[in-house]
Amino acid sequence: MKFFIDTADLAQIKEANDLGILDGVTTNPSLMAKVGIKGEAAVTNHYKTIAEMVNGDVSAEVVSTEFKEIVEEGKKLHAIHPNIVVKVPMIKDGIKALKWFSDNGIKTNCTLVFSAGQAILAAKAGANYVSPFIGRIDDSNWDGVELIAQIAQIYAVQGYETEILAASIRSALHIVKCAEAGADVITSPLEPILGLLKHPLTDIGLAKFLADAKAFK
Ligand code: G3P
Repeated sequence: MKFFIDTADLAQIKEANDLGILDGVTTNPSLMAKVGIKGEAAVTNHYKTIAEMVNGDVSAEVVSTEFKEIVEEGKKLHAIHPNIVVKVPMIKDGIKALKWFSDNGIKTNCTLVFSAGQAILAAKAGANYVSPFIGRIDDSNWDGVELIAQIAQIYAVQGYETEILAASIRSALHIVKCAEAGADVITSPLEPILGLLKHPLTDIGLAKFLADAKAFK
């Protein structure tokens, strides 16, 4: 399972990248706004900086909702760096645009996916990644991880090549459950990724080893 970080914060991207386990980055307009990136030039420059920091796919989201505009915006995003993947929302014109990008060799990530039916459409349109938002599904009293398992089963049975990119991750346990359910990729904020490191018995065991090691120093 690949690990992407879901942020536009350069310090957090660097910290995850320095761990040596980072395979890519996802962003969205909310994450860009959170770090104060405004205006086309600043957005372009920020994507370029991220793409140059990380050796892997970087999802950059379109903010257009009409087919022609999505295509034009996506072409511009893709031109910023070869690692840029165009993130397209799960809407009718988005599906048409995913097919266009697929036919024209531009990688895509279909975002805002909340059902298996949407995931089937994304795969049919040739999306490289499909992004089910599991935390937001949990928030609405459904089980987000169950959706990952359902999509994984459908894609395996149908032979779809679209990678399942579990998004809206809220905890280290989400990451573990997504691995179990068959996600190809998780995209997570830094904290749940670092949360995977934690176990009290590791801390207690290390403290004991270090204390005992002092005896033979
Ligand atoms: O990649 C999508 C993700 O950013 C959504 O996460 O926490 O806003 O539901 P969240």
